[in-house]
Amino acid sequence: MILITGGAGFIGSNFVLHLLNDEVASERIVVLDSLTYAGNINNLVSVFKNTNFEFQKCDINDIDNVKKIIIKNKPRAIIHFAAESHVDRSIKGPSKFIETNINGTFNLLVSSYEYFLTLSEVTSSNKDSKNQITKKNFRFLHVSTDEVYGSLEPKEAGFSENHPYKPNSPYAASKASSDFLVRAWNKTYNFPTLITNCSNNYGPYQFPEKLIPLVILNALNKKEIPIYGDGMQIRDWIYVEDHCKAISLILREGIVGQTYNIGGNCEIKNLELVKKICSILDDLLPINNKSNIKKYDDLIQFVDDRLGHDMRYAIDNSKLQKTLGWEPKETLLSGLKKTIQWYIDNSEWIKSVNNDSYKKWIAEQYNTYTKDEKKRSP
Ligand code: NAD
Ligand code: DAU
Repeated sequence: MILITGGAGFIGSNFVLHLLNDEVASERIVVLDSLTYAGNINNLVSVFKNTNFEFQKCDINDIDNVKKIIIKNKPRAIIHFAAESHVDRSIKGPSKFIETNINGTFNLLVSSYEYFLTLSEVTSSNKDSKNQITKKNFRFLHVSTDEVYGSLEPKEAGFSENHPYKPNSPYAASKASSDFLVRAWNKTYNFPTLITNCSNNYGPYQFPEKLIPLVILNALNKKEIPIYGDGMQIRDWIYVEDHCKAISLILREGIVGQTYNIGGNCEIKNLELVKKICSILDDLLPINNKSNIKKYDDLIQFVDDRLGHDMRYAIDNSKLQKTLGWEPKETLLSGLKKTIQWYIDNSEWIKSVNNDSYKKWIAEQYNTYTKDEKKRSP
């Protein structure tokens, strides 16, 4: 079986659905998740009845429980998605990020390594040996981010796996620390790890504190669309399904101890991206004449910049492409259309996340910003 931490979050749940629906229909999948504000059990509702699926509510900092779950389930792989993942929240309250991303990853490594030591060195010769978990076939895959590399200059080549670590936000620093811990467990204890560093994901089930779902929901509700600073920052967007497929492939064929960068080959300025989303919405759900706006991009509102805002991220995919033959399949336009349609079709899911704690976050984050009226019509 495969143990997945953070499997009720955005990418984790997409990965669970991808595994159970498209890849390993006959293998057990156990999700370990503490269901923070970002975790949503409704993301997994379509697999509740699947007998190969199980959910365990557990905090990765609860080391006794984590150990129990690992020993009881005897995974052939542990895939570690669980994290605090939002840069803005890390700026407002970094301590949770240290607790989960650093201490939590440490606890998970200690627990997983203890289990790893109980595995046999070689496959036995009996008839069940095909499915036997040994030290040789066990894997610990740590899901990380391109933000650990810091910010790129405009003409600089994309981040390769050898790019120096220069994390700038508390979130990025906590993820960089977790990458270093995973690396240390491989180098020191020969623990069979893989690390992936991916660019900005988008797609179904993304919590609407992140740019793309926030823009879609605000536009649908005719609320202002906040752009930090001048909107000239660049991100490299990847459709979440492409990320999930890359993780599966790296789990199957990646070389132990190595890092693989994953990106969407899709760099775009924030403002341009937001205008693209608005223009797709103009076609899908044209604004009626009675409204006080004519087009969705009339809702764009420039607000104070994010503290320490990284200017540009971009991934050099060539290692993954050359060694394992992976490349992203979705274009930005096709991925955005699917994503927008998903949010239009899933109003019940939106209701389930639009709770008091979300409203409180939005009020705290956006009511304190100064609006820049000068930039209102870019
Ligand atoms: P998310 O915030 O949507 O989900 C995180 C999940 O982890 C949630 O289900 C949450 O309940 C769970 N969790 C948080 N703290 C926990 C704890 N202490 N114990 C157990 N579970 C806990 O995040 P996401 O966007 O799905 O990101 C998943 C992983 O991928 C993260 O490690 C993130 O750093 C990494 N990543 C994200 C992106 C992106 O664009 N979203 C890009 C690259 C890498
Ligand atoms: O690069 C990978 C990272 O991408 C992941 O590791 C993180 O988990 C994920 O949250 C994401 O981080 P970003 O900070 O890049 O994503 P976010 O969606 O928060 O912001 C994308 C860009 O949009 C960024 O330049 C900030 C800007 N932005 C964001 C919000 C929420 C705005 O201009 N306005 C907003 O309201």
